[in-house]
Amino acid sequence: MRNDTITLFCMALRGTLRQLVRTKDVDDVIHQNDADPTEEGHHAKLDRRLTSWDLMGFGIGIVIGTGIFTLTGTQAKDNAGPAIVISFLIAGVVAVLAAICYAELAAAVPTAGSSYTYAYTTIGEIFAWIIAWDLILEFALGAAVVARGWSGYLQHALDLPHAFFGETDSTVNLGAVLIVAIIGTIATIGIRESKLVTNALVVVKVSVCVFVIVLGIFFVKAQYITPYIPPSKPLDPKSQTTGLEQPLWQWITGVDATAFGFTGVLIAAAVVFFAYSGFEAVANLGEETKDPAKDMPRGLLGTLAICTLLYVMVCFVLTGMVNYTDLSEGAPISDAFSQVGLGWAGVLIDIAAIAGLTSVILVDIVAMGRIGFALCRDGLLPTRIGAVHPKFRTPATITIVTSVAVAILGAFIPLGTLAEMVSIGTLFAFLVVSIAVVVLRRTRPRMKRPFRVPQVPILPITSAVACVALMSNLAIETWLRFLVWLALGLVVYFVYGRKHSRLGTSGKNARDTVGA
Ligand code: ALA
Repeated sequence: MRNDTITLFCMALRGTLRQLVRTKDVDDVIHQNDADPTEEGHHAKLDRRLTSWDLMGFGIGIVIGTGIFTLTGTQAKDNAGPAIVISFLIAGVVAVLAAICYAELAAAVPTAGSSYTYAYTTIGEIFAWIIAWDLILEFALGAAVVARGWSGYLQHALDLPHAFFGETDSTVNLGAVLIVAIIGTIATIGIRESKLVTNALVVVKVSVCVFVIVLGIFFVKAQYITPYIPPSKPLDPKSQTTGLEQPLWQWITGVDATAFGFTGVLIAAAVVFFAYSGFEAVANLGEETKDPAKDMPRGLLGTLAICTLLYVMVCFVLTGMVNYTDLSEGAPISDAFSQVGLGWAGVLIDIAAIAGLTSVILVDIVAMGRIGFALCRDGLLPTRIGAVHPKFRTPATITIVTSVAVAILGAFIPLGTLAEMVSIGTLFAFLVVSIAVVVLRRTRPRMKRPFRVPQVPILPITSAVACVALMSNLAIETWLRFLVWLALGLVVYFVYGRKHSRLGTSGKNARDTVGA
């Protein structure tokens, strides 16, 4: 009797594990966009309209946001000094490693779901859902945080009432609702319209970055950049974090953080990594790209090459123009120009910052629509809301649903404290993609890979370790919030997704990896 119970229990456990790790076949994913549009439940195709230049436009659109215009000042002043340039280079290298991994998968498996779909084909449905839930956090929260920042700029520029436009002190933030409504409409109407608006905004902000570099270089003085890495010193007790606010690594090791020196450069690198986040949104446009095999690697790596170059040059000029101890924390670039007698330049920099914020919201909402589309196509969210609009050729309903959710978040919740969750979400997705490259090389060695990551497994493993190292620099409270969010995602999966999954209900694509 007892043995029977154990056998039954083992069978149930094995069945559950099989269900949990059911994976999609990578060939089905590659050909899903060629399927017959009349097939029941099929979502119709997205149109292939984008080139590698367009992808770079979207990439730079989401990457250059507030990071370079704000974090540079605080991190040079508090942690790295002129060596903030090295911090940006380190963060850039970590982003490039992840981008190389994304490039292999995005070229071989060009789908709207990016890392969600890569996980679906490698480690299984439940993990794929967790990644998708993580991406929803990254893009929706990212858009809402930036929408409030945008509203704050508007309030400041036009002296509007704080109660409706203040970034942190509004009760109902109408500015955030307004910008999300405008951007959500553009994202719904079409990928071509989204591309045009993004490109215009990108031209503005890249031109201003080039302007900062070309004009600022004439004011660089050697005295401000020596010593290049200021000597290490104990952190000001006021800046020392404790309790749930301290970084995970500090809690684990019990070592207090120090300012400046090489440690300071690394701490600053972890913070300024935020300035690179977002480029992976490009990987979600695989089904709308004309020639993903070539365009995806070019779009992803081109985005990062351009952004890294601009960031490093802007930091070099900034810390060469004024002593790092005199940098402003809120608006370091415009303030540096004021300090050298060019106050008028601040207006241009504000325009670039507003253009940056606007394009970040746009690409966030476009990317969210594609992830939602992929989830609905797979049955993990209600199929109907993911359908492609017959005229706009976009996943219109899910884009509208997403925009409304972002507007509600932006309207009512002061999200400043949650901004770190965008970073943990991004790094988690990078970690999964790095692992997926190694797993797919083993499970599908003969899969056609138009772009191949060099030095596998060393490069993807280095990428994964670098992501974990940066994640360990985030506050314990961010980790706890992240875990709560993932737990909530699991509840949604078990209540809805697992029962409605196309893979689970049709059974035709399932590849039983436990039994394999
Ligand atoms: N990378 C984007 C920024 O710097 C999110 O604002």
